[in-house]
Amino acid sequence: MNVFLLILGGLAACHAASYNYSQVIEYSLLFYEAQRSGKLPSDQKVTWRKDSALNDKGQNGEDLTGGYYDAGDYVKFGFPMAYTATVLSWGVIDFEQGYTKANSLEDARKAIKWATDYFLKCHVSENEFYGQVGEGNLDHNWWGRPEDMTMERPAYKIDAQNPGSDLAGETAAALAAASIVFKSADSSYSDTLLTHAKQLYNFADTYRGKYSESITDAQQFYSSYGYEDDLVWGAIWLYKATNDESYLTKAKQLYEEFELGDYNGYFSWDQKITGVEVLLAQLTKEQAHIDKITDYCDGMINDQARTPKGLVFIEQWGSLRMASNAVYLCLEAAQAGINPTQYRNFATEQIGYMLGDTGRSYVVGFGTNPPSHESHRSSSCPLAPATCDWNNYNSADPNPQVLYGALVGGPGQDDDYQDVRSDYIHNEVADDYNACFQGALAALNQL
Ligand SMILES: *[C@@H]1O[C@H](CO)[C@@H](O)[C@H](O)[C@H]1NC(C)=O
Repeated sequence: MNVFLLILGGLAACHAASYNYSQVIEYSLLFYEAQRSGKLPSDQKVTWRKDSALNDKGQNGEDLTGGYYDAGDYVKFGFPMAYTATVLSWGVIDFEQGYTKANSLEDARKAIKWATDYFLKCHVSENEFYGQVGEGNLDHNWWGRPEDMTMERPAYKIDAQNPGSDLAGETAAALAAASIVFKSADSSYSDTLLTHAKQLYNFADTYRGKYSESITDAQQFYSSYGYEDDLVWGAIWLYKATNDESYLTKAKQLYEEFELGDYNGYFSWDQKITGVEVLLAQLTKEQAHIDKITDYCDGMINDQARTPKGLVFIEQWGSLRMASNAVYLCLEAAQAGINPTQYRNFATEQIGYMLGDTGRSYVVGFGTNPPSHESHRSSSCPLAPATCDWNNYNSADPNPQVLYGALVGGPGQDDDYQDVRSDYIHNEVADDYNACFQGALAALNQL
């Protein structure tokens, strides 16, 4: 019996160590390249993508080209995009060596800058910010290449009369986090990011409201639960970027006022409370925050529902993304010295599930039997000028372009998964899916 267990343990360790995290990091960054909107640069590696959406404009003609398409579609949804930029920046700040080892630090910075350059354009005046380009249903009712789309792409904004403290707070967090990333690499860009971060935070805090009540087209797709967590989160990121104690004071004051200590939540594009806890644990070393993040990670490991093959199962829609988000936060907790061995083992196990431990990979282009029919418009199209339309969506053939590095939604609660384009719940890809996932890979890569 003992010998048997030893062998099993040995096999598990062996298996877990066998993934090339550097390669997955490199691929994940290619996924973000494939999601680029606007005019593509000459060093673009994903060459089946071309310039697109060059007429994206604000209501007064402002240039809103650039940024990222959200998922398998072409809407530029600002709220999840900002979250993605914040989390990618967080990973570069705390796990830079993991990126360096993957020879990907430059590309990781470029992935962040592709979002932050766009946010700077969207911030057209102090209290005015464009939070979406493209109309959800109009966009989703069309299938083809982004280079070929002709539907109207209206732009939606928040301002003092139509506020959005969550959107502005999260974008302030993204710009502040990115300013740390660029501090030594490009200090003048870093300063610009920080100036806009401060203005956006002030806007978020002064004019309170949920962005999805102002940008109502987002309601069906990325409705916000509330702005309270984003205001605390934004203040903490500004504190990290500036070392200005008034931001930490603000964060603590709002944390009390909103009674965030009474809440928990699965970390996501909408829900930052657990992210707040781990940042406060790292920055203040206060026991209350250490206890909360410890409870969260211990609960994930010991009490959270699992699939029969061991994936922590939080939510049907994007199950691997939800697991990645939990894994990343626990790696941040480990970084702060909280149960590091246990939390890193948990991360290795969960990421192992995604990369192939069950006999299949859930990352396009990587490993054994990866997805090839992911629900994603541009990669489902043959090279131009061949037609691309709903026939390509309905086709049983694999996507003609390999969308390297994209993490698909993932299995249902019984490890059930089918690699079919029509199953957008389990087989779509999205910018936010890869954000914590990529950070977790960087963290594991530097161990
Ligand atoms: C891991 O992947 C990287 C990047 O693709 C590659 O350069 C390296 O040789 C791979 N390492 C191993 C051990 O296969």
